[in-house]
Amino acid sequence: MASNSAVPASTTDSAGRATPGAAARADVLHAGPAGYGKLAEQLGQAVEKMSGWMAGYGDFAPHPSLDVPLEQLERATAALHERLRENYPFFHPRYIGQMLKPPHPAAVIGYVSAMLINPNNHALDGGPATARMEKEVVAQLAAMFGFPEHLGHLTSSGTIANLEALFVARQIHPGKAVAHSVDAHYTHGRMCHVLGVEAVAVPTAADGTMDLQALEETLRGGRIGTVVATPGTTGLGAVDPVHEIVALCRRYGARVHVDAAYGGFFRLIADGTAEGVAAEPFGAIAECDSVVVDPHKHGLQPYGCGAVLFHDPGVARHYLHDSPYTYFTSDELHLGEISLECSRAGASAAALWLTLQLLPLTPDGLGAVLRPGRRAALAWADLIDRSDELTLFQRPHLDILSYFPTWRSLSEIDRASAHVLNTGMHLPAAQSLFVATYTVDGASMAARGHRVAADVASGRILRSVLMKPETEEHVPALHQQVLDLLRSRGPQSRFKSGTGSAVPPTLPGRDGTLDDAGSGGGRTARSVAQLVR
Ligand SMILES: Cc1ncc(COP(=O)(O)O)c(C=O)c1O
Repeated sequence: MASNSAVPASTTDSAGRATPGAAARADVLHAGPAGYGKLAEQLGQAVEKMSGWMAGYGDFAPHPSLDVPLEQLERATAALHERLRENYPFFHPRYIGQMLKPPHPAAVIGYVSAMLINPNNHALDGGPATARMEKEVVAQLAAMFGFPEHLGHLTSSGTIANLEALFVARQIHPGKAVAHSVDAHYTHGRMCHVLGVEAVAVPTAADGTMDLQALEETLRGGRIGTVVATPGTTGLGAVDPVHEIVALCRRYGARVHVDAAYGGFFRLIADGTAEGVAAEPFGAIAECDSVVVDPHKHGLQPYGCGAVLFHDPGVARHYLHDSPYTYFTSDELHLGEISLECSRAGASAAALWLTLQLLPLTPDGLGAVLRPGRRAALAWADLIDRSDELTLFQRPHLDILSYFPTWRSLSEIDRASAHVLNTGMHLPAAQSLFVATYTVDGASMAARGHRVAADVASGRILRSVLMKPETEEHVPALHQQVLDLLRSRGPQSRFKSGTGSAVPPTLPGRDGTLDDAGSGGGRTARSVAQLVR
């Protein structure tokens, strides 16, 4: 098992696979702790360069009200660094919990360089250089999705990007509802509420994708103006069949919005190959009315960097507003004129711009960063398939893996999953393992052919997001560690689900909230009162 100290840098072979343990190279900036020495040098140079530009405007005296004693700064910063240790190790291959990883160091250099100036991309008056960079990166995103024309901009998050797409959808189809799958991100319902639009949750098929028959029945009713397709759901990474959704929507005159906040960059490896992802759903994004993608997820960016793109530049009319105190330096399009938000960090655009200069939106550029995670998901799925102790909940469509301890009842599965989650994260740092859980019910187990006794209303299974390319070489060790954690709980009644001829007898279960000894229990089962306490 790799230590928790700086991970030894890897290089890659001709197929883009990591060659483990290769020495750090002097001529490259490595990602992660292995590259932090070089990052420190590069950041020093960035600060020098920006101060050189500033010096051209002439010296001025710093104001004493802003002076802070160095000794005090060092003490406060030490306290900050101490407090930051409370974080989970998102940077490490053994963190496979949520959709979280540090930005690429190039993004850090881009962000810090621009942040020293702190441009505001609301208007060319506020950030001329970074606003132009934003237009360039948005054009690159549009090209990745195959939009021949586009209107778009960066946002502070995927949620705000989706809000904008749904706002435009409401303006185009006033009074009509928005349909999304029950597994779509929870903010679609919330944002529809904000917009005063009815949201209709369409059931999913057995693999967690939108059920097309149910969608067609919903569309037949005539009240749907827009359908949200999600190629990469947050929970399972399920890829909605965008190509089939588009065909249906065209028949019924509905718009299609694609929430590719998580999955969008998989367009770069949507080649239908054994180590790529399905081509058709991602290819069909080119025909959709709008798309959202989050560079702060798979685009190697710091929070908050989302993006929304519209196929028809004419939707700018829905943003029309007057502002007597801005937009005065140029007649060119100011991004605030096509954005619901006002202030936005120019530094976000600079960070993405610099990253894409180095890792462009091509299969060999950023695509080569996504492919190892996809391979990792497939390799781990195979290991699980061959194991008696773990069962795959469903085959991964992207790089998100869902699996569960092969116990006979949902209550046992829940407790065993919680044990892996809680025990793994509380091990000493150098051995720790961080997974996530996903709440399922008996029906969703049965829909996937798992013969599990549904002795409780819902229970947790295991979920792992394999979004760091470094994870690939750790898959066998990660699999073994999950097995070791399960075994550390002692022998249980076990069977390989989905293979038995009858539902096995249930062990005594209990209804309601489940909990593993010492765990926080299922969050979904906790009351609001408990959460706000
Ligand atoms: C598919 C999808 N849509 C929307 C969101 C919300 O994005 P954000 O967290 O950037 O607001 C997420 C976040 O995980 C997501 O996975």
